[in-house]
Amino acid sequence: MTRQIPRQLEAYRDLLNETELNQLLESMNQPLPSGLRVNPLKADAASPKAWQQAYGWQLEQVPFCPTGWQLGNEASNLSRTVEHQMGHYYIQDAASMLPVELFEFKPDAEPSVLDMTAAPGGKTTHLISQLGDRGLVVANDSNLQRISGLKGNLQRWGSTSAVITNQPGERMGRWLPEQFDYVLLDAPCSGEALRTSERHTSRLVSSHERNTLQQRQIKLLESALQAARPNGQVVYSTCSLAPEEDEAVLDALLKRYPEQIEIRPIPQRVPIHAPGLLAAGAQAYAEEVSKALRLWPHLYNTAGFFAALIVKRDQIATPSLERPQQTLAKAGYKAVTNDEQQQIISSLQNYGFNLPALLASQGLSLWRNGKSIQAIPERWLSNFEHFPFVSAGIHIGKLSRHGFQPAHDLASRYAAQFSQQRLTISDQQIDEWLARRDLPIKQRAYPDGSIVVVEDQQQRYLGLGQINANILENLLPHWQ
Ligand SMILES: C[S@@+](CC[C@H](N)C(=O)[O-])C[C@H]1O[C@@H](n2cnc3c(N)ncnc32)[C@H](O)[C@@H]1O
Repeated sequence: MTRQIPRQLEAYRDLLNETELNQLLESMNQPLPSGLRVNPLKADAASPKAWQQAYGWQLEQVPFCPTGWQLGNEASNLSRTVEHQMGHYYIQDAASMLPVELFEFKPDAEPSVLDMTAAPGGKTTHLISQLGDRGLVVANDSNLQRISGLKGNLQRWGSTSAVITNQPGERMGRWLPEQFDYVLLDAPCSGEALRTSERHTSRLVSSHERNTLQQRQIKLLESALQAARPNGQVVYSTCSLAPEEDEAVLDALLKRYPEQIEIRPIPQRVPIHAPGLLAAGAQAYAEEVSKALRLWPHLYNTAGFFAALIVKRDQIATPSLERPQQTLAKAGYKAVTNDEQQQIISSLQNYGFNLPALLASQGLSLWRNGKSIQAIPERWLSNFEHFPFVSAGIHIGKLSRHGFQPAHDLASRYAAQFSQQRLTISDQQIDEWLARRDLPIKQRAYPDGSIVVVEDQQQRYLGLGQINANILENLLPHWQ
């Protein structure tokens, strides 16, 4: 017998049979398992096992995401570990790991990728991992307030290949037509994921709001398709199970571009195939839409999610639109001089770090903005010249008349290569240090003013500090 169903589930009564509806209701009362995704730039395949032992977690592999794990038990310390603070993993519901896994990336290719609605950056970090930090990932979001979270997450991830832009996604396709091999549109949606967590709460959505969202989703998806190259791929995803935001959006674009786009069947590694709907209420959708995947909470033990991989077979007519322009000089950047570059290189050599090797292997060049030194992807500078950006590449450090001070972002990403000038703190001091407090030091192996790499007894990198008499000043950045 079907139980009393909450109002927000009324619309799903006709989409599921009685058993399924009951299972869905049951699953909605279960707590959502936490999940984490490993950062291959900083951790390795053995890391989850080590964390499991150190923190008492029960980790189960997410079937469709080789770097993703779900926790079988309560893990209140998930966001408080050293590894989380240093960006060795990202806390993410397993459902959110699906969209990026759908892309068919070619091994060793260095593609250009656009994440059109990226903040706070969970899926951007996944894209960077999948590409091994090669190629170029443009992470865009129209909401300036959410950009700081995106920036912090990319800094913590340690990527060199990402650029953040702050533009309306609807225009990106006309400004940058056919510039990207892959485009992710993780669309703004009602969040009707049907299974709630602290991050995803449930609420009723009015039909007016639903309609406004749908119109925006259609515009954004059209823009994503315009931005993709012919034979490029676009993933459309939402954390809503409402057909108006999912199948109806795909259906609208399939009707607009029947010859130019197609949806790829969901890959075999996704264990349960719950296809897109062919009809909802009075609406019938194109057959092709059934190749999308609905992550129903009762089938996957995740929050609700929807995703489809679209291939752009052919060009689509795209009216051009004049791009916004901002030169690097206007944004405050100057190329570093040869003398400055030499000073930075030799200062980093004192830590054992080889900056020229990094610049060459990642295709980066050094730019100065005030005191700040940034390594910016040359690919961005040459292919997207003058397109305004919020930040690009990786922060290398600060250069002033007092000398060069390396950045935490760089030292954290390449901690193993910062093999000199290290200072070990005791296990009892770790919490204080991570709370960004200065520490007293007894032994002074380095002169006053020295910037040292702080580690614990297990040689885990914990940030940079400056020796000042008997104090180790804490240089962890504020976003950390
Ligand atoms: C579902 S969230 C993205 C979550 C993100 N992909 C992640 O995994 O962390 C949708 C994002 O779209 C942004 N957004 C909303 N309307 C937009 C628009 N017109 N253009 C670009 N971004 C937009 C919102 O600010 C929000 O950050």
